[in-house]
Formats: sequence, structure tokens, C-alpha cells
Amino acid sequence: MPKRGWLFVFEGIDGTGKSTQCRKMEDYLNTKEVPSVHLREPTDGVWGQKIREILTIGRGNVTREEELSWFIEDRKEDVEKNILPALDQNKVVLLDRYYYSTAAYQGALGFNPGSIILDNEIFAPVPDRAYIFSATPEECLARIESSRETQSSFEKLEYLKSVQKIFDTFEGKNIKRINSNKTIDDIHGILCRDINKFIEA
Ligand code: TYD
Repeated sequence: MPKRGWLFVFEGIDGTGKSTQCRKMEDYLNTKEVPSVHLREPTDGVWGQKIREILTIGRGNVTREEELSWFIEDRKEDVEKNILPALDQNKVVLLDRYYYSTAAYQGALGFNPGSIILDNEIFAPVPDRAYIFSATPEECLARIESSRETQSSFEKLEYLKSVQKIFDTFEGKNIKRINSNKTIDDIHGILCRDINKFIEA
């Protein structure tokens, strides 16, 4: 088998601090001179832009089915254009949100989370690690509110509670749960030790 890079994904509800950790990991890998790319979903591509419009102005008359299909199209593009090419170049891919977010967020709108995961795994590589960050939805909302003026439709308390519940159900050898009640540096240390086990093996 040809050598391939590593895919590490950072997941969890908004306000758990996963994006901060993803950026710190990018800096750490740069310092170690490990080739890496830092990506995020929704992306800045055409589908991602449509999604971000819903995030700022609300769903309007976009149906849940359409919304789900946009997340999938956006991911297909990300896999083809960014993720697979980077893995082929043996890079570490740090990805801020992936299909576990679709399963949890769109699952909370009524779709079956397990089916969403299976449908994604047809075209999207299974990550070496999915770090699922957790904190209480109340704490997360407080963090979001202190950093932004308005909330998106994805950030309402009751909705976030359902999303968190679905994140809690995911199981698998590649899943590592990160409780956000520690300091940023402590969490960064835990992640560095874990990622080093892969890249230094
Ligand atoms: P987020 O990473 O929080 O973006 P920002 O940095 O702009 O805050 O993602 C935006 C929202 O999109 C977030 O509330 C979760 C939601 N989302 C889904 O509902 N399904 C998905 O598949 C993905 C990737 C994100």
C-alpha cells in the first residue's frame, strides 16, 4: 500500500473551542516542519457560500433536504479538490468540521444520523481521528454570545442540545472525546501527544 497522509478532524457544537485547537495544531505542525493543510467545512467554495448565506440570513424557504444536499455537495468538492490531493502528498490534513457535523446538525433536523454517516463514507475518506469536543450547550452559547453580535439559526440553545446529544452517540475506534473544561494549553497538549502517536509511528 502506498504511504498516505493523515486526516484529523475537529468536531463538536459551536463554541467548544475546536477551531482554536485546530489553529494551534497547525502552528505546532509548522514548528515541527510537518507538512500540513488546514481546511474547514463549510468551505469557501460555491456550495459553502450558499450555506454561509443561510447561516447569516436564515433558512428562508430553503428546505432541510436542500440544505443537507448542499453540505454533501460542498464536502464532495472538498474531498476531490483538497482532502484527497493533500493525503496523496502525504500531508497531515487538519479539518475543522466534517461529516460527523452533518450527521449531528442535520440529524437534529430529523434525518437519520447513521444513514448520513454511511452515505458520506461512500465518497469521503474515514478520518484517522475524529476529535469530538464537548461542553454544555449553555457554556457554548455563552462563549458564542460573547464573541459575536448575532446568532445563526444553527446556534439556538434547544437545537444545540439536540446536536450535542447526537454527537454523544457516535462510536468508533477513531473517535476521541475531548472535554472542553480544561485549559486551552492542556487540551493542546493532549492533542499533540495523540497526533504524535500517528505521525511519529
Ligand atoms: P462553523 O465551523 O461554526 O463556522 P463559523 O466558523 O463561521 O462559525 O460552521 C458553521 C455552521 O454550520 C455550524 O453551526 C455547524 C453547521 N454545519 C452543519 O449544520 N452541517 C455540516 O455538515 C457542517 C460542516 C456544518
